[in-house]
Amino acid sequence: MRRPIIAGNWKMNKTPSEAVELVKALIPLVKDAEAEVVVCPPYISIAAVAELIKDTNIELGAQNVYFEKSGAYTGEVSIDMLKEAGVRYIIIGHSERRQYFNETDENVNKKAKAILAAGLRPIICIGETLDQREKGITNDFVSMQTKLALNGIEEAELENVVIAYEPIWAIGTGKTATALEANETISAVRNAVREIYGEEGADKIRIQYGGSMNPKNASELMAQSEIDGGLIGGASLKGEDFSKVVKF
Ligand code: PGA
Repeated sequence: MRRPIIAGNWKMNKTPSEAVELVKALIPLVKDAEAEVVVCPPYISIAAVAELIKDTNIELGAQNVYFEKSGAYTGEVSIDMLKEAGVRYIIIGHSERRQYFNETDENVNKKAKAILAAGLRPIICIGETLDQREKGITNDFVSMQTKLALNGIEEAELENVVIAYEPIWAIGTGKTATALEANETISAVRNAVREIYGEEGADKIRIQYGGSMNPKNASELMAQSEIDGGLIGGASLKGEDFSKVVKF
């Protein structure tokens, strides 16, 4: 059985003091959650959030990372830095990073391998544009993104890999894929994993839905057989809303 995982992607929101406030509000609200709960604050708040959640059921995530060990990469943050700070999950390949910061499938793959080698867990984001959905190439496109991201990763590592299927047209727009659409596309993603790794690999990888997931639609999405969790943007910025999604 795959344990559900709900992760909050705060994006470029919350100053350090606001981050502390949000996490303090969240801790009691999610303490009995059955799902795994992850928060991904901006880098600058990671240390403060780590301190607050260290004896709780909340896990810490980051929103990006660079794959090189160390060196002359001004402005970047390494996996070891995040690991020492208490991070367990790292979001990579978010569509906003692909769109605004030239993140490529090749980089996403390098990051995924380096994260796993360090004993941490990547949350690999994939998803189609509205144009691709309208042209009917969604399943092909997300299958390709999945295969490129997982290239060179061993089957045994898949239990530490999370994929977040996020249709780009549903992110921050208030438009959600219907639960059936999301389930169908995630099923195609799992099939792509099955093609490479077989049934066992496909069974153990966790696949989230992301894109305007909120307290109202979370239970229907989570009731789908292929959906193992959610990557939550807007609705993760309020403790009350996020805790409702966590408890779907
Ligand atoms: P949203 O963002 O929930 O605000 O649509 C999700 C995401 O981009 O991870």
